[in-house]
Amino acid sequence: MISSLYARFLVLMVGGLISSFLLSNYLWYTVLESKRLAQGREMARDMAFSVGSTMEFIRAYPTEYRHIILNQFRDMGGSRYLVSINKKFINIDPFIDSDLKREFIDNFLAAIEEKLGQRLEGLSVEFADPTELRVYKNDIRLVDLPPRWAQNTLIREPESAPVLVAQVLVGEGEWLYLAGLLSDPYYLNESRYLGADQLLFLSIMLVVLLAISWVLVRWLTRPLVKLSRAARRLGTDIEYDIRSLQIEGTREVRETAMAFNFMQERVVRFIEDRERMFSAISHDLKTPITRLRLRSELMDDSDTKRKMIGDLEELESMARGALDLGKSTDIHEGMHAININQLMRTFKDEYKLMGAEIEIRGIAKRPYFGKPLALKRCISNLINNAVFYGKSLRLDVVDSRAEMKIYIVDQGPGIPEEQLDKVFEPYVRLEGSRNRNTGGAGLGLSIARNIAHAHGGRLTLRNRIGSGLEAAVILPRI
Ligand SMILES: Nc1ncnc2c1ncn2[C@@H]1O[C@H](COP(=O)(O)OP(=O)(O)OP(=O)(O)O)[C@@H](O)[C@H]1O
Ligand SMILES: [Mg+2]
Repeated sequence: MISSLYARFLVLMVGGLISSFLLSNYLWYTVLESKRLAQGREMARDMAFSVGSTMEFIRAYPTEYRHIILNQFRDMGGSRYLVSINKKFINIDPFIDSDLKREFIDNFLAAIEEKLGQRLEGLSVEFADPTELRVYKNDIRLVDLPPRWAQNTLIREPESAPVLVAQVLVGEGEWLYLAGLLSDPYYLNESRYLGADQLLFLSIMLVVLLAISWVLVRWLTRPLVKLSRAARRLGTDIEYDIRSLQIEGTREVRETAMAFNFMQERVVRFIEDRERMFSAISHDLKTPITRLRLRSELMDDSDTKRKMIGDLEELESMARGALDLGKSTDIHEGMHAININQLMRTFKDEYKLMGAEIEIRGIAKRPYFGKPLALKRCISNLINNAVFYGKSLRLDVVDSRAEMKIYIVDQGPGIPEEQLDKVFEPYVRLEGSRNRNTGGAGLGLSIARNIAHAHGGRLTLRNRIGSGLEAAVILPRI
């Protein structure tokens, strides 16, 4: 699925970035969180000590002095409290429900117990919404009191902070009521989880990271993409723009491109050498063959003379064939858009003149990009075989996005299975054909296959069920 280098790089980079990002955020968050919890414990303890000592005082002094003490306690330890003694327990609606709150209350109760040296029966602790908080009596709301009284103490603007309310029975019909803000009033309001703006920040960062890695990865892989394109191109057209690859990109890519250019040069030189050698051989053979021919004309024995001339003719056609074979991977012909349908019709017309009927099936949907003369030669070699060795010939064109396939189908005897590979070798002719003396040199198939290979394609032979041979020229579209 993720097969291109580009995609893999991208996955690797983005995956690495995201996971390192998440991990560092997670670590950062845990450190912060544990600090926050420590702060909470500290706060719970401080408040518990203030509230605990208030309770101790209230209980220790006789009823008539209580109002003096109450006044004193309105302002203690940095936090301000509303302290009163009410006739009834005031109902409190819990304002916040979170683990953090429960933990705070637990710490608070534990610290009070520690301060007083005993568990305080009936002590109720809860956090209330200041706008809903009731004071003195169940039907008096804090917000309805004149501002001077208590609102300033407990109501925060603009966002209200939860108010800690502790109530405990200190005597018959006497409920001690303490309400105060935390020293960090919004401690409980902060969410433990990522807030909307944090998420926004994270997503902006991710988008930026993605964009940067996209650019980076493109920059890294571009020379490689060029390299693979050029390699594909050279696969079918080796002479295409010699030293065409630019030496650019990372050191590795530059070295590869250099090696590639060097290889292309060597391959081209090798092919040229081979071609020169073939033409030299066939050319040099011609002179002695002609001489032999002249000499044989002078012979008396007519039977030997006839046989000798026959052998010499064969030799001549082989020498000519060698030149053809050498040229079959004709590297000099340029690539052009070929109209395959038109090519098929040309074959039909040309062979009709020679008395062979060709049936054409299928059409090419768009032109094929290749070497026109070479391709014509390839297919006509196969048609020649079908005409010589088979009968009733058909051409099937099957065009797809990736490949152009041309089938040459006859209804002749076919080729024995064990010979199917062998007939591709140069100068190989099967027994029957030699006897029928079609005049061939046994090079048609090897030339045709060379041409298919030169287009990056392949040529296969298959005996059809029933009878006849099916030759398939399969050419990739690039
Ligand atoms: N369609 C076919 N039906 C049966 N036999 C075939 C067919 N095509 C090729 N052959 C066999 O394969 C051999 C090799 O074919 P190839 O085209 O290479 O050489 P050729 O036809 O003998 O000579 P050339 O093509 O060089 O004139 C042929 O001699 C023939 O025996
Ligand atoms: Mg042939």
